[in-house]
Amino acid sequence: MKKGKKIYEGKAKIIYSTSDKNLVIQYFKDDATAFNNKKKTIIEGKGVLNNRISEHILSNLSQIGIKNHLVKRLNMREQVIKFVEIIPIEFIVRNVATGSLTKRLGIEDGTVLREPLIEYCLKDDKLGDPLIAEEHIYAFEWANKKEIEKVKKMIFRINDFMIGMFRGIGIKLIDFKLEFGRLKINGKNEVILADEISPDTCRLWDSITDKKLDKDRFRKDLGDLIPAYTEVARRLGILHEQSNVSAVNVTKLSSVKKKSK
Ligand SMILES: Nc1ncnc2c1ncn2[C@@H]1O[C@H](COP(=O)(O)OP(=O)(O)O)[C@@H](O)[C@H]1O
Ligand SMILES: [Mg+2]
Repeated sequence: MKKGKKIYEGKAKIIYSTSDKNLVIQYFKDDATAFNNKKKTIIEGKGVLNNRISEHILSNLSQIGIKNHLVKRLNMREQVIKFVEIIPIEFIVRNVATGSLTKRLGIEDGTVLREPLIEYCLKDDKLGDPLIAEEHIYAFEWANKKEIEKVKKMIFRINDFMIGMFRGIGIKLIDFKLEFGRLKINGKNEVILADEISPDTCRLWDSITDKKLDKDRFRKDLGDLIPAYTEVARRLGILHEQSNVSAVNVTKLSSVKKKSK
């Protein structure tokens, strides 16, 4: 696949055109930003981990019938995705109260919500991605009722699947952000999941210790972001070839074999 012109450079990723007008390449940068770009730095290796983790989660979601933009990962930092018209809404899904929700409403940090809570933010960096009501979406025609109903159904399935997936590897899915886009299929608009799902876009706490394994390590200056993202990837089982344990075992095995010859 030939990489064409840069179409868009965002805070964490770059989108390039390809020879196929329906497909683009998504490149994961090492840039970390928070608080609407007021805080930024480069964290070497972050893009590589997010590319792998997002590929893993999105391909698992396709296996349970959640249509999404992922076509295939190309290399360490790039994946081919279906080019969609992004719905300009950030869908925030919360299972446990933390971050802006606790500050805004005076809710105690760590409060487990009885049901998942969906919040809507307008995707507009200049305005600081303001919180909006569902009615604003219809009033300003950012999406229609049918699309939002479809998105909500997908969100609850994605949330249930991801809670289970992370619980199985000793991680609590506290909250996360999703983006959806419109794709023309046989002349009809379909809404599919887009963007990325990674420790940049989720809050992930270790089930036993509540240690943060996500971008809050950067937001809150906790350090060790790469070890935390690596730990998530390792527990998801996507870092086999880099695992120290297997590397040591392979070395041991081959030396045993050599000696016995
Ligand atoms: N499948 C897709 N088709 C078109 N645009 C997409 C797709 N997936 C994600 N995007 C958009 O590409 C950009 C990704 O780069 P990112 O660094 O996250 O940007 P931003 O700083 O705007 O959040 C986002 O604006 C996102 O909405
Ligand atoms: Mg983004």
